[in-house]
Amino acid sequence: MDYAEDVLKYSYLEGKKIVLGVSGGISAYKSVELLRMFQKAGADVQVVMTKTATKFVSEWTFESLTGKKVYVEFEGMEHIYVPHSADLFVVAPATANIIGKFANGICDTMLSTMLIATTCPVVIVPSMNWAMLKNPAVSENIKKISERNGCIVVEPEEGDLACGERGEGKFPHLEKIFFWCEYALAPKKFYGKRAVVTAGPTKEFIDDVRYISNPSSGLMGYLVAREIALSGAQTYLVSGADIHFQDINCFAGFSKVVSAEDMLTEVEKLLPADIFVGAAAVSDFRPKVRIKGKVKKESVGDEVLVEFIRNPDIVNSVRQGVKILIGFALESEDILNNALCKLKSKNVDLIVANDIRTFGKSESEFIIIDKENVESPEKVVSHKRIVARKIVERIAEKMEKAEKCKDIKH
Ligand SMILES: Cc1cc2nc3c(=O)[nH]c(=O)nc-3n(C[C@H](O)[C@H](O)[C@H](O)COP(=O)(O)O)c2cc1C
Repeated sequence: MDYAEDVLKYSYLEGKKIVLGVSGGISAYKSVELLRMFQKAGADVQVVMTKTATKFVSEWTFESLTGKKVYVEFEGMEHIYVPHSADLFVVAPATANIIGKFANGICDTMLSTMLIATTCPVVIVPSMNWAMLKNPAVSENIKKISERNGCIVVEPEEGDLACGERGEGKFPHLEKIFFWCEYALAPKKFYGKRAVVTAGPTKEFIDDVRYISNPSSGLMGYLVAREIALSGAQTYLVSGADIHFQDINCFAGFSKVVSAEDMLTEVEKLLPADIFVGAAAVSDFRPKVRIKGKVKKESVGDEVLVEFIRNPDIVNSVRQGVKILIGFALESEDILNNALCKLKSKNVDLIVANDIRTFGKSESEFIIIDKENVESPEKVVSHKRIVARKIVERIAEKMEKAEKCKDIKH
């Protein structure tokens, strides 16, 4: 399992035509990696460069990687044909100069003209020295673009800049750019909604160094949170996983927790919510006492008895504060029947059952059971990202149904 690769699979960029505009900034070399990422995701990319950009990276690099001519100068009517055949237009890096041109409708180069001629969603990735970024002219231009319908500006990051100074203006992580490119294309089913998702294992400490836990990677919950965020909901992920998901902070509020009790405390702070997805593998039990320090083996005999007590049931505890509640059931045997029992006992709207063999894997078998249609469980043998998308579709259907009922009552 490689979550960075997993996110590229089955993305909204698959099969899409992307125009990648490269302007003349020091981070132009990073757009080569961005191009590779788009290609791995199954997109067909056409590169357009400014003349200055070709001083930083040769158009030969992009031509070799795409197998297509790179546009720098005007050529016939290509400034219209190319953007009109695109599904997405990304400018990365975007210099202060190209941002100024796009904000003010200036069409004096191939790239600036294509940007003004485009009709598809646009993602702009500014990257420059902190003082250039803070300049009122540039700030105003960025604000102007970000307020336009169909335009997304990906916030630059703070850090060490190429000029040797430190500040805001750094080219963002590729995962973050990729998320916003997907966001530009994803249908917005959950605008104005609030969602809380849990992920990963919990750790229940016996003493200060030893704990009981499980091998959950947190990938399923992370992918569900990402998919919900792509659908436009304000999303929060509460995770016990040790993997640091690189792009998490760009699309969700994020809390890292340790134990089941911590997870419940964090979740309660985030409620009420329209959607709650409990994808975490929460430990059902915890040691009755947590011993301070490290228990020395010399201080105990050959047998050590640890007394366990029940942990709070997070999914049960949140029911009152949530409109649509989704649970996961991890089973080792009789998966369907055990999941049905859980669906009823936890009073969830949907339960996603899976086998313990899914632990740490990207692809597996899942069974989705709907409270309103328990007779027809849906079996999905696929990548966790597809399962996440199915869950989102089911939530959207339920939401639509609930809204319709509300309208009828009114
Ligand atoms: C070495 C060097 C690095 C530069 N890096 C950046 C940069 O990171 N961001 C930026 O906005 N401008 C940067 N500039 C300034 C742009 O290259 C300059 O504004 C140019 O006119 C941009 O042209 P273009 O937008 O047509 O590519 C840099 C210039 C030089 C000489």
